Amino acid sequence: VAIWRDRAVVKHILIGLAIAVAAQAQTKIVIAHRGASGYVPEHTLEAYAMAHAMGADYIEPDVVLTKDKVFICLHDIHLEMTTDVEQVFPDRKRDDGKWYAADFMLAEIKQLHAHERLKNRFPQDKSSFQGPTFAEMIEIVQGLNKTTGREAGIYPELKEPQWHRENGLPMEEAFIELVKGYGNTSETSKIFVQCFEAEPLKRMRNELGSTLPQIQLLGSGKEFAPMLTKEGLAEIAKYANGIGPDKGSVDKDPYLVKRAHDAGLKVHPYTLRKDSLPSKYSSFDNELNQFYNVYGVDGLFTDFPDLTVAFVNGKK
Ligand code: G3P
Ligand code: CA
Repeated sequence: VAIWRDRAVVKHILIGLAIAVAAQAQTKIVIAHRGASGYVPEHTLEAYAMAHAMGADYIEPDVVLTKDKVFICLHDIHLEMTTDVEQVFPDRKRDDGKWYAADFMLAEIKQLHAHERLKNRFPQDKSSFQGPTFAEMIEIVQGLNKTTGREAGIYPELKEPQWHRENGLPMEEAFIELVKGYGNTSETSKIFVQCFEAEPLKRMRNELGSTLPQIQLLGSGKEFAPMLTKEGLAEIAKYANGIGPDKGSVDKDPYLVKRAHDAGLKVHPYTLRKDSLPSKYSSFDNELNQFYNVYGVDGLFTDFPDLTVAFVNGKK
């Protein structure tokens, strides 16, 4: 009887452990960087839909404003890296030789074709893509949430809010209103709002009263070094829920993860790319393992959401 009672206790403990491990696994999130951008051109509805189908927990749009104050999904504040703006509007560049989205009405931007940024990915002169508005991005994610029954979140990045403000296009209030219109109203909403600039995040939290989860992005430059210290992270924790460091910063200083966790911050490094593997890693899974399981990060930005979801789910 004692043996069977012991076995029952052991079984109980094992089930408890399995639940704990599963719960921990669920906290590791996969963020589809610019959609499934390893497979189709970044920031297109096709890239977002593919990321959703691949099981990403969150899908990332970078957002900028047009001249008529519409948020569109675009990585750069200018258009020529991923559209045919040079051919369609040859005379609309600024003196620095760039075509800024802020100089174009949405109706003009909708005349452009989007294309792949990198030569080694989707053929740059094939098929037909268009850049969506941020509202269209949210609507495709929410539509797929409904039709698939699986709820993916959004992870928007405000691109260069200070530059936009200087160009007469303040972003923060309009951004908060837009996402609120789609049901993102509280700290439990399935959204992370990210930015490299601290001031816009502070403004949204302290002046606009937003409780939406916020992520302070951290670059690899010297200017970000003070923010990586214990004191810097404590400051970030006053207005953000996590940090999004450049992955190289974590490779160089893995204790950054513990310092951030100690400050109550989540850690979501960017960006893992199967087709641009750092030489220290023997495979994409090796890099995923190092970040998720050795460094202990809470989530990763990835251009390859299918491979990353499979890794997190233990199917590899
Ligand atoms: O937002 C995280 C990561 O995407 C930051 O880099 O240049 O790809 O927007 P970037
Ligand atoms: Ca981004």
